[in-house]
Amino acid sequence: MPAREPRLWTIDTPHTSYVVALDDDDRLHGLHWGPRLTREQAVTLLSLPEPTGRSLTDGRDAVLDFNPASALRFGPTGLQVRFPDGTRDLEFAFTEDVATDRELTLVFTDAHYGLEARVHYRTFPDTDVLERSMTLHNQGGDPIEVIRADSATWVVPALEDYRLSRLHGEWGAETQLTRTALPFGETLIGSRRGMTGHQANPWAALDDGTASESHGRVWSAVLAWSGTWRMTIEKAPTGRVAVSTGFGHDPITCKLGAGERLETPVSAGLYTEDGFAGAAAAWHAYALAHVLPHPEEVRPVLYNSWEATEFDINAEDQIALATRAAAMGCELFVMDDGWFGARVHDRAGLGDWTPNPDRFPDGLRPLIKRVHEAGMRFGIWVEPEMVNPDSDLYRQHPDWVYHQPHRRRTEIRHQLVLNLARPDVAEWMHRWLDELLTVNEIDFLKWDMNRPFTEAGWPGEEDPDRLWFEHTRNLYRIIDRLRADHPHLRIESCSSGGGRADLGILRRTDQVWTSDNTDAADRIEIQEGFAQVLPARVMGTWVTDSPNPFTRREVPLDFRFHVAMAGALAVGGDLLSWTEAELERGAELVADYKRIRSTVQLGRRHPLKAGTVAGVQYSRADKVVVLAWRRARRLGYRDPLVALAGLDPDAVYRDERTGRVHHGAILAAHGLDLDLNPADYASTMIELVRTS
Ligand code: GLA
Repeated sequence: MPAREPRLWTIDTPHTSYVVALDDDDRLHGLHWGPRLTREQAVTLLSLPEPTGRSLTDGRDAVLDFNPASALRFGPTGLQVRFPDGTRDLEFAFTEDVATDRELTLVFTDAHYGLEARVHYRTFPDTDVLERSMTLHNQGGDPIEVIRADSATWVVPALEDYRLSRLHGEWGAETQLTRTALPFGETLIGSRRGMTGHQANPWAALDDGTASESHGRVWSAVLAWSGTWRMTIEKAPTGRVAVSTGFGHDPITCKLGAGERLETPVSAGLYTEDGFAGAAAAWHAYALAHVLPHPEEVRPVLYNSWEATEFDINAEDQIALATRAAAMGCELFVMDDGWFGARVHDRAGLGDWTPNPDRFPDGLRPLIKRVHEAGMRFGIWVEPEMVNPDSDLYRQHPDWVYHQPHRRRTEIRHQLVLNLARPDVAEWMHRWLDELLTVNEIDFLKWDMNRPFTEAGWPGEEDPDRLWFEHTRNLYRIIDRLRADHPHLRIESCSSGGGRADLGILRRTDQVWTSDNTDAADRIEIQEGFAQVLPARVMGTWVTDSPNPFTRREVPLDFRFHVAMAGALAVGGDLLSWTEAELERGAELVADYKRIRSTVQLGRRHPLKAGTVAGVQYSRADKVVVLAWRRARRLGYRDPLVALAGLDPDAVYRDERTGRVHHGAILAAHGLDLDLNPADYASTMIELVRTS
């Protein structure tokens, strides 16, 4: 894509094109994000009348793809700086484009101050997801204050109307999907908490209000970053819409010293005509192929001991649980919180990462050996970024936490956040984790992060706000280093449940703890939201006890399993209190899951809905799996048939359990009879195999 007149670039994915072009003042306009265009076709976009609005002062809002603060820009801007002399406006000139097969970089320079911005685009042969990022290079002699440096501003085409889909949430109710009309002005989602956050997930989708699960044009964007972030969805007075997203939040800034570079995380975007489920499936395929560390792997069935024992743990109980978990078919045993230091409750011990000598007098190795002998891998809980004030670590290093002079140190769950931006803290953290993994045969870490930053200061540091960026960068560096040195290690990202679920952490972890709320009825919605962008392969789902310890809701075992089988199935109940019948049925359901898991974890997802029945369909090669559930039936009605998606109408599908055969055409047009039990909380798993 070399620079040719006119100065226009088409960035092509297999089915779509994103077209940008420079105007006479070197402003980069987003001209097209939609179906694939040839260059010849794209060039004609330049002669279309611009829907710029009535006046010059409104005409530039929500149309610029590279969107620096500059004259006549009154809407949100994706790049904002302050030079030492107080100048804030940027006057960039286009300098060059650098293109390879799949990457394009457009280079802009503000000559007076020596600031270079490199705007990157990257495509892949097998997905319509397009990755973007930006690099700033301070080539001048003075430091620059960076106020906002977004990874991308996505210019959405002019539509009749706009509907915004987003994921909000809170602890115990993450990834709640809403679709609402997009108001004029700026809709801001993000996190100021130091991590991705439960409150919003860095994903948003726009359509014109008519898209369905299977049909319709959908534009969506994500940010692959696990620290604070923001996404501004601007609907300008002209009706034009752009989505600008990047790391950081108001009002933090960071310094870019002379000669320094700032690299933003990736923001990825996707245009599809296949509706919401089509968009979700494309995100999943992209995550599997281009983000996750081991795309070909399926996740093992995990057992986690947290809900069974909480802090009251010892080697014997863990072994008893592990024995039952192994008998049920679990493949990875994870010992949760409470194994180290004085951590017999949540008030002490965080930071002192040596096995509690009363609980594990001979260290962890005897337990690990027993778990391995039972045929399972061994995993362990850690929360490296935190410290209890009642710990040896804090007594030795009270200055290692984020704090501000003359301010209190606010505790949440009796803990403070370590200043991981500090090189010495990062070094310490890497050292003890590396040692833990070297001394013990640990296969899996559950890496937790249970509280947001408060009083986020760094006394003595000249540019303290950089802690917000450096914390996440050091987190990534440590995980990357541990993975490189311990290649068998797999990691779960947890933050009081799903507070750190994003494509930045997932570049270096293998799964996410979706929510502390393990109530299957609540999980249906949480999982539906999660699945808008992240694949089932990373969605940790535990079957726990009934009544549920959090909600006290009683839900049958099959229902709990069937909901959990829609993700990376795990068991988290107190198996010592389960009856023989429950243990046996659990083992059958785990065995069922193992038959379907490659279809669930690596297949294409489609949500199912018919009256009171909901569920999910996963398809891969010649297999189709249906997991469906219904909480309560309507008086006098049979359950409705559930229409399946994406089948070959001419093919015949056999139900593996009953042997019944179904025509694809009938399953798609009329649906499948799920034959659910008439009782409340009925559920099922159906495996169909294409036979012709
Ligand atoms: C967090 C996690 C839980 C559990 C506890 C342990 O709340 O989300 O799964 O690990 O910490 O303290």
